[in-house]
Amino acid sequence: MRVNLIYFSATDRTAKVVKEIGSAISDELFENDITLEENRNEGLVFTEKDLVIVGVPVYAGRVPKFLVEYFNKVKGNNTLVIFVVTYGNRAYEDALLELKNTFEENGFIGVGATAFVGEHSYTDLLGNGRPNKEDLEIAKKFGDRVKIKINAIKDISEIGNLNVPGNYPYVVKVSKMKPMAPETNDNCIDCGICKNSCPTNAISKQNCRSVDKERCIKCCRCIRNCPVSAKEMTNSEYIEMRDFLINNWSNIYNSPEIYIY
Ligand SMILES: Cc1cc2nc3c(=O)[nH]c(=O)nc-3n(C[C@H](O)[C@H](O)[C@H](O)COP(=O)(O)O)c2cc1C
Repeated sequence: MRVNLIYFSATDRTAKVVKEIGSAISDELFENDITLEENRNEGLVFTEKDLVIVGVPVYAGRVPKFLVEYFNKVKGNNTLVIFVVTYGNRAYEDALLELKNTFEENGFIGVGATAFVGEHSYTDLLGNGRPNKEDLEIAKKFGDRVKIKINAIKDISEIGNLNVPGNYPYVVKVSKMKPMAPETNDNCIDCGICKNSCPTNAISKQNCRSVDKERCIKCCRCIRNCPVSAKEMTNSEYIEMRDFLINNWSNIYNSPEIYIY
């Protein structure tokens, strides 16, 4: 079986988990890193000879909307799939179910699913350093277990339903936050790393100090990647939200969750 990874990973937490699971299943992995917008233009097509491992970060308890739109261009043909979500130690709510439903509506058959904590994009006080060594060991063991199960399948009719937590209809949330984007301070040296790695091309190619608030998804990739700490979120609503998260979820340790059909 050809093992294909599909992941969006603005700050690299999801990518780590997906790659660890993939490496437990095969020495040869075919990667589709869809973090950059230019890698989400074309759809993908898979057959029954493929296994797909798809990973996304949880945004507001859901799969980021622009990724659901992209995933509707990813088609399977009785293709087995493993679902991975990472979340910043608050909650993943309906994201795993939404990911599963989206793929199963497009010709895929879910065989495994996981939810891992990834250090929160907004603060290192939630899920600090995660996925950590123990998480990645669990990811590897999960990959080993799914591999054994898949290898034993003689016919796809043997595959039972994969049950994952989540509400359906999904809980609809209306964000009270106004559009916002990171500010650029005087440290900026115009190196261009931020504009070239922005997942939604929100940073102007002509002037990387200018960030389009409507396009920005607040993924914090530019803040994390900047070599001189020139990008920062200064918006008071954002800081309030970050403090609320810290006050409520920084002292909890959520272990990885694993589901196999
Ligand atoms: C816009 C946004 C919304 C988020 N919403 C949630 C959430 O609802 N629950 C949660 O626990 N973490 C949330 N997070 C944190 C991310 O899910 C978490 O840090 C994830 O591991 C990031 O993965 P990545 O590094 O692969 O992009 C959010 C992060 C961002 C940027």
